[in-house]
Amino acid sequence: MFAGDGVGDGLRDQWYVVADAADVATEPRAVTLLGARYVLWRTSGASGATAVVAAADRCPHRDGPLSGGEVTDGCIVCPYHGWTYGADGRCVLVPSAGPEAPVPSAARLALAAVRERYGLVWISPGEPAGEPPIIPQDGDPSYRRVTAGVELWRTSATRMTDNFCDVAHFPFVHAGTIGADTDPLVAGIEIEQLDDDFTGYRYVVDVRDERGEPVRQVMSTGFALPFTVRSNTTYETGPRTGHERVLLLCTTPVDDASSLFTFVVWRNHDHDLPAEELLAFDRAIGAEDKAMLEQIPGHLRLDPGATVDVRADRLSVRWRRMLSRLISPATDA
Ligand code: FES
Ligand SMILES: [Fe+2]
Repeated sequence: MFAGDGVGDGLRDQWYVVADAADVATEPRAVTLLGARYVLWRTSGASGATAVVAAADRCPHRDGPLSGGEVTDGCIVCPYHGWTYGADGRCVLVPSAGPEAPVPSAARLALAAVRERYGLVWISPGEPAGEPPIIPQDGDPSYRRVTAGVELWRTSATRMTDNFCDVAHFPFVHAGTIGADTDPLVAGIEIEQLDDDFTGYRYVVDVRDERGEPVRQVMSTGFALPFTVRSNTTYETGPRTGHERVLLLCTTPVDDASSLFTFVVWRNHDHDLPAEELLAFDRAIGAEDKAMLEQIPGHLRLDPGATVDVRADRLSVRWRRMLSRLISPATDA
């Protein structure tokens, strides 16, 4: 489904996080998205502004792995015969032909669209109609943004996004963190369009914060296709009453069996906290999800009837229906 011929335009025309922006410098970096390898590198323009370039990790000459080469003056140099490509994908030098010889016009890299958002590099292997999801708090100076870095999970993107839409696992999977003493009963879920990008629901939940203190949170959780989930929290009780925290969970299918995971946090409180301290609780929660999901083989089936769903699964059911339509628009009535 997420690798090889099974990947249709519906999935290709989307945005996916493939790296932490801080990890993409002038060294080429290989990433795999939907079963295909890409090379990323950072180039700089005349104004000093830098930009990330993404291309298929395959040299048009003999399929050399560009990610094994080097970047010189913003151009990537293939490690096989030294053909050199600019940020626009065009070959600018074939060393065996000499600097004066014309370059074959077919010597051109297949570029992927790139955006840098929220400290992350997003790429699209197709022709995206829109932009990566918008977080209105980003750019608001009262909010601080912290990006957690990208890690590999040995599980399908379908399992991860389903899990991030789900609160019913909190008292079980997250008994050691946020879910201690959480009521397992999930109230009715009314799905709504939360904003332009996210579909989800609003709810109130009593959980434990990172100090183990009980706290009441007014929350919304929603998804943006294909695999992004956002949870907004406003604290109703405790020392952060009235403050807000936004958690963006980004999942990227590397292939059918593995995925990239990263999260970004925006908070309008506790600005003095060191970044790692701020991320530690969410990292621990993520590790609990990862440990559970890596025990479950294969994809979560998307077709209705393939799973048993209850009231608490309504957001996941909606997400799976919309993802199915994205993947196979013609076969879903
Ligand atoms: S394969 Fe890249 S230069 Fe020959
Ligand atoms: Fe979880």
